[in-house]
Amino acid sequence: MIDYRENFPLLRRIYAEHPLQYFDNAATAPKPQVVIDAVNDYYNLHNANVHRGPNFLAEEATTLYEDARLSVADFIGAQREEIIFTAGTTASINLVARSWGETNLKKGDVVALSRAEHHANIVPWLQLKEKIGIVLEYIDINEDGTFNTESLDKIFAQPKLRFLAITLASNVLGQYYDLKPIIKRAKSLGVISLVDAAQGISHRPLNVKELGADFLAFSGHKLFAPSGIGVLYGRQELLEDMSPFLGGGGMIAEVLEQSYLPAELPDKFEAGTPNIEGAIALGAAIKFIKKIGWTEIVSREKFLSDYFLEKIQELDFVQVLGGEVNRLPLFSLVLKDLHPHDVADLLGERGIIVRAGHHCAQTLHDYFQVPATLRASLSFYNTKEEIDYFINSLLEIKALLQS
Ligand code: ALA
Repeated sequence: MIDYRENFPLLRRIYAEHPLQYFDNAATAPKPQVVIDAVNDYYNLHNANVHRGPNFLAEEATTLYEDARLSVADFIGAQREEIIFTAGTTASINLVARSWGETNLKKGDVVALSRAEHHANIVPWLQLKEKIGIVLEYIDINEDGTFNTESLDKIFAQPKLRFLAITLASNVLGQYYDLKPIIKRAKSLGVISLVDAAQGISHRPLNVKELGADFLAFSGHKLFAPSGIGVLYGRQELLEDMSPFLGGGGMIAEVLEQSYLPAELPDKFEAGTPNIEGAIALGAAIKFIKKIGWTEIVSREKFLSDYFLEKIQELDFVQVLGGEVNRLPLFSLVLKDLHPHDVADLLGERGIIVRAGHHCAQTLHDYFQVPATLRASLSFYNTKEEIDYFINSLLEIKALLQS
């Protein structure tokens, strides 16, 4: 079996004599050397602003930046005009809520979310509720992490349903959703859809046209690229009709004292100096993923997911949220008589990095009536041996805390 851990300098770190074991990929993925090199190369060789200077350095930086946009477009089956570089998923969703939502939604219009949403796909809509009085409806989730069919039917029967903002994969339940039929149903009713692909993007191949989404958002940092870079995909006709969310340099065709003309897509939505090195490094991350290949990534993650579930189910003091079918290697654990933060801390002492809390999904934790969970989120490069070490460490920590 190939040791993909070698690609990531972070994983060579030793902490308290333990090799670093990174089980927090859902929070942010480690960066492979090729991504770090892409950032360094930009600063060492091509540091210049984009779309501005008429010199070779600016031309190089612009070419690298725009090539990265083409890589992203190709990666998700979109046109270059449909790829807006943002600061991340949160910024992308806020852009849609503010630019599309404020213009096209009015008091009483229904926006449907699922109960599996991250705060990034709840709060912008709550802000719009405060501002213009839209109504939020939530699709119920079954115990096994799937969407509840009756609840879906009820929401689709709402005459004022205008917008569907839904996650591709839950950052708590590990469930990867088949959104195609839901988006098709929304489309047949004239309902516009936004997919939060923050968690899904790094685990399975994705084609926005096949998915049928009107908007799709994701971050670079969960896809092995730096933080502070993200993507908003928008269907071209919709983006053409939308007003720019931020105003400033780079997003204009002309500025007069009393008016301005926005630039063509995608520049219209990229005011100010963008995260140039982040975009270039996102291109490098996509190349890295393509080189490994989706077949390899999906099959390794399936193996890790099955093995983790098998092992964790042997522990009588642990309950895993969510189901088994279509599960990513992401597990939120409810620990009987143990506080997840204490356990996360002690796992850290053994070099194991996990997250504890509600994982920016407080409403979902409330829905399942658990205040906090311990989350282990794996990626294709993790190993069976790491899972064994994690399980043994959990057992040791339980013995230690309950002695
Ligand atoms: N959304 C990230 C997580 O689930 C930060 O941890």
